[in-house]
Amino acid sequence: MPRVAVVGSGLIGRSWAVVFARSGFNVALYDAVAGVAEHARGLVVEALCAPADHGRLDAEAARRVSVASSVADALAGVELVQESLPEVLALKRNMFAELDRLAAADAILASSTSTIVASRFTESLAGRHRCLVAHPVNPPHLVPLVELVGAPWTAPDVIAKAKAIYERVGQVPIVVRREIDGFILSRLQAVLLSEAFRLVGDGYVSPQDLDKTMKDGLGLRWSFMGPFATIELNAPGGIPDYCRRYGGSLAHLSATSPDLYGGEISTEFSPRGVRRCRPIALRRACAGVTGGLRRSRRTSARNHRSTNLTGRLPRLAIRVFACPDPCVARGWLCAYRELRGRDSARATNAISMDAAD
Ligand SMILES: NC(=O)c1ccc[n+]([C@@H]2O[C@H](COP(=O)([O-])OP(=O)(O)OC[C@H]3O[C@@H](n4cnc5c(N)ncnc54)[C@H](O)[C@@H]3O)[C@@H](O)[C@H]2O)c1
Repeated sequence: MPRVAVVGSGLIGRSWAVVFARSGFNVALYDAVAGVAEHARGLVVEALCAPADHGRLDAEAARRVSVASSVADALAGVELVQESLPEVLALKRNMFAELDRLAAADAILASSTSTIVASRFTESLAGRHRCLVAHPVNPPHLVPLVELVGAPWTAPDVIAKAKAIYERVGQVPIVVRREIDGFILSRLQAVLLSEAFRLVGDGYVSPQDLDKTMKDGLGLRWSFMGPFATIELNAPGGIPDYCRRYGGSLAHLSATSPDLYGGEISTEFSPRGVRRCRPIALRRACAGVTGGLRRSRRTSARNHRSTNLTGRLPRLAIRVFACPDPCVARGWLCAYRELRGRDSARATNAISMDAAD
C-alpha cells in the first residue's frame, strides 16, 4: 500500500491527508504540538464522510490515516513527504534538513509553501535533487490544482514522479518551469486583484458588482476553460487572429505596450503551415494549452497571422505584481468597508499610510 507523510497537521496538512487517504494511500500525520495531529485525524475522518453517500463514513479510508509520534516514525516507508509547516523560512530549512537526513533515499520531499521558493531552504542538502514545492490551493481536498516548482537542482525525474503521484490522487498538477515569486496562480490573482481594486477605488463599480463580474461572468467561463483556450475560440483564426483583431484595444485597456499583442507579423500559421515561431508565448499558447482545439480546427487555419509576444507576458505580470499604487490601496479600503462593514478604523489607518508611502 503506498504511503505518504504529512508533516504539520494544520489547515493544509489535514486537507492533504484527506486527498491521499481517499485515494488509497496510507497517511502518517505528524505535528510538533502535542494533540494537534490527533485532533487533525478526527477532522480528516469527518471529512472522509462522503456527503453524496449520506454522510456514511468511509471507514476504510479513515483506517488509512494514522498519527506518528515523531518525524522518523512518520517517514517510515513513504514515497512522498508533504511538508505543511507554517510559512517561516527557518522552520522549512530545519525541517527539510531533518527530512533529508531521515527519509529513504528515494522519497520525494515536497513543501506546501505558498511563497518560498525551494532553493531558499534546500541548497545545502545532500538530497536537494529530490526536493520541490508542491503548492496547493486551499483546501486541496476540494480544489485540485497543485503547482510543482523545482529548485534549479531538482531532478527532472523527481518532478515527473511527483506529478504522477498527484495525478494518481486526483489532483491537477502543473509544472512551473523555473522558480518565480508567487508561482503562477498567485501572480495571476495579483494582477486581477490590483485591477479590481483600481476599478473599485476609482469609483467605476461597487465591490459587489465587481464580484458578480467574476462570479457570474468570467468565473463561469474560466471554471472549465482557461484564458488561452477562450481566446482561441473567440476569433475565427484562433489566438493569432484574436491578437491581431483585439490586441490594440487590449493593450489600451491594460495600459501595456501594444507590442504585447502586436508587432512583428510572422508566418507561423500561414496557409502552408510554415512554423518559424518567433513568438514564443504565442506558440506555447497555441501548441500547448489549446493544441487539441487547434488540431480540431485545422481546416479553418487559413489566413492565420501571429504577432510577436516573445517574453513580454512575464514582464507585464512582474510590473503589476510589484506595484500596489495608492489607487489600489483605496480600492482595497473601499472593498473592505463595503463587504466587512464600516468599523474598520485600524484597516483604514494602515491603508492610508500605505497609500501615502
Ligand atoms: N492556508 C492557506 O490558505 C494555504 C494555501 C496554500 C498553501 N499554504 C501553505 O501551507 C503551509 C501550511 O499552512 P497552514 O495554513 O496549514 O498553517 P497552519 O498554521 O494551519 O499549520 C501548520 C502546522 O504546523 C505545525 N508545526 C509547526 N512547527 C512544526 C514543526 N517543527 N514540526 C511539525 N509541525 C510543526 C503547527 O503546529 C501547525 O499545526 C504553509 O507553508 C502555507 O504557506 C497555505
